[in-house]
Amino acid sequence: MKNKNIILGVTASIAAYKACDIIRRLKERDLSVTVIMTKDAEEFITPLTLQTLSGNKVHRGMFDLASEEYNVEHVSLADKADAILVAPATANIIGKVANGLCDDLLSCVIMATKAPVVFAPAMNDGMYSNKILQDNIAKLKNAGYKFIGPIKGKLANGKMGIGHLAEVDTIVKETATVIK
Ligand SMILES: Cc1cc2nc3c(=O)[nH]c(=O)nc-3n(C[C@H](O)[C@H](O)[C@H](O)COP(=O)(O)O)c2cc1C
Repeated sequence: MKNKNIILGVTASIAAYKACDIIRRLKERDLSVTVIMTKDAEEFITPLTLQTLSGNKVHRGMFDLASEEYNVEHVSLADKADAILVAPATANIIGKVANGLCDDLLSCVIMATKAPVVFAPAMNDGMYSNKILQDNIAKLKNAGYKFIGPIKGKLANGKMGIGHLAEVDTIVKETATVIK
């Protein structure tokens, strides 16, 4: 899969550290990985780690000044993407996209892209079973967005429940299938 660009959206879940493994596995498939992380995701994992592993600039803020050539960053990232994978995907990013909200770089890029978008949710089982979240997922699936997991497993509070991030292997394999 040479010359294909994946945008990996990393959001503020306790599972954010698994983005490291996802990057490594996508790169093993010769995919170029560019990370966009939310502001709150930086509470869980550092941009430096994601930048070092991906080998590409980590995009963070909507209003960061362009460092090299000038372009409207959210539009150029959206155009460049062959697929967008949001892993882990919080209830918040799912809710924002489902309702057309674009108040940060990741939600703007998802809104602007014509590439396939895949969400791998991770959250507490209470959040996952919430009817509004379920309605948001159904709305997004209906609009053509793909979901991988979550699965049953150990959650952040130590209890078992549905909301655990799908296996990295599954996420990477399924994402590869949506790239044209
Ligand atoms: C320790 C901790 C763990 C969290 N884990 C999750 C999670 O796994 N999934 C989730 O949807 N929200 C989780 N949250 C809540 C999100 O961090 C919060 O909704 C955040 O504002 C989401 O921001 P983002 O979607 O812009 O990244 C967690 C919060 C804390 C303090």
